[in-house]
Amino acid sequence: METRLDSFAREYKNLLDNELRRLVEQLDAPPILKDSMIYSLEAGGKRIRPLLLFATLDAFDVNPKNGLWAAAAIEMIHTYSLIHDDLPSMDNDDLRRGKPTNHIVFGDAVATLAGDALLTYSFEVIGNTPVEFATAETKLKLMLEMAKAAGAEGMVGGQVADMEGENQELTLEELEYIHIHKTGKLLGYSVQAGAILALADQAVLDYLRKFAHHLGLAFQIKDDILDLVGNQQVIGKPVGSDTANHKSTYPRLLTLEGAKDALKQQIMNAKESLQKTGLNTTLLMELTDLVASRDR
Ligand code: IPE
Ligand code: IPE
Ligand code: MG
Ligand code: MG
Ligand code: MG
Repeated sequence: METRLDSFAREYKNLLDNELRRLVEQLDAPPILKDSMIYSLEAGGKRIRPLLLFATLDAFDVNPKNGLWAAAAIEMIHTYSLIHDDLPSMDNDDLRRGKPTNHIVFGDAVATLAGDALLTYSFEVIGNTPVEFATAETKLKLMLEMAKAAGAEGMVGGQVADMEGENQELTLEELEYIHIHKTGKLLGYSVQAGAILALADQAVLDYLRKFAHHLGLAFQIKDDILDLVGNQQVIGKPVGSDTANHKSTYPRLLTLEGAKDALKQQIMNAKESLQKTGLNTTLLMELTDLVASRDR
């Protein structure tokens, strides 16, 4: 039976895909750069972050379409992070979203620049949100928080810590820092952006932040588990990449069973915080379950 999330996801993924294509196609830029940007944007990502933003707006009874530009911006940042993450100087992976990675097709230089262009464009896209959907003040807030989540204090900092942790025995606390930053911050921003657009009050924001914190950890724990026991055909990226790169992961520190328990715990904590928001959280609850049960 189709769940509410199934039909919601179909509708909003479709809307997002069309907007992403339109946004890149309209750029007055070298065709090779646009091709490289579109190649990764359209490679078949799950669109979890945009869906989190749309579902958060739905929880506030605000039209999810108001978040289209912020959602496109987040997916651009996420896609840039994956292009760079796969580069030979980083995780050195050749498969992403079931296709050869960007640098395999376009070369390291264009792949790096496509990432740069996606990152930069994301801020322009938020700035160009039509005024009927976000005031200038809201757009500024969206941009400031996005910069924080994606930059040195957020995802980029996490990626550096992840690389510095290669070939090291990290403590669980150190590994948690990596996961919260490299993955949790942008996922958290997806929820936060919905709350900013919905003009949420502080108490609700605090519970949503806790929810996103646990969800972000759960998401990366599951990613680590899939790197170990996933099916390459299904996840669309190489299995065993973390092992090959001597990364610290939850399964490596806690065993596979321990990682599964940690995942369950984070999902429970996430749901508990979500419950406390008092919002209409049907879709966000379903998305939370999906993070735990996903096989890709
Ligand atoms: C992969 O993210 C990278 C992580 C932060 C774990 P996703 O699992 O959301 O990747 P796509 O967008 O579906 O390809
Ligand atoms: C990367 O984590 C998270 C990013 C910020 C891109 P991983 O290196 O584990 O992501 P995958 O497994 O390659 O998608
Ligand atoms: Mg990595
Ligand atoms: Mg990687
Ligand atoms: Mg991984």
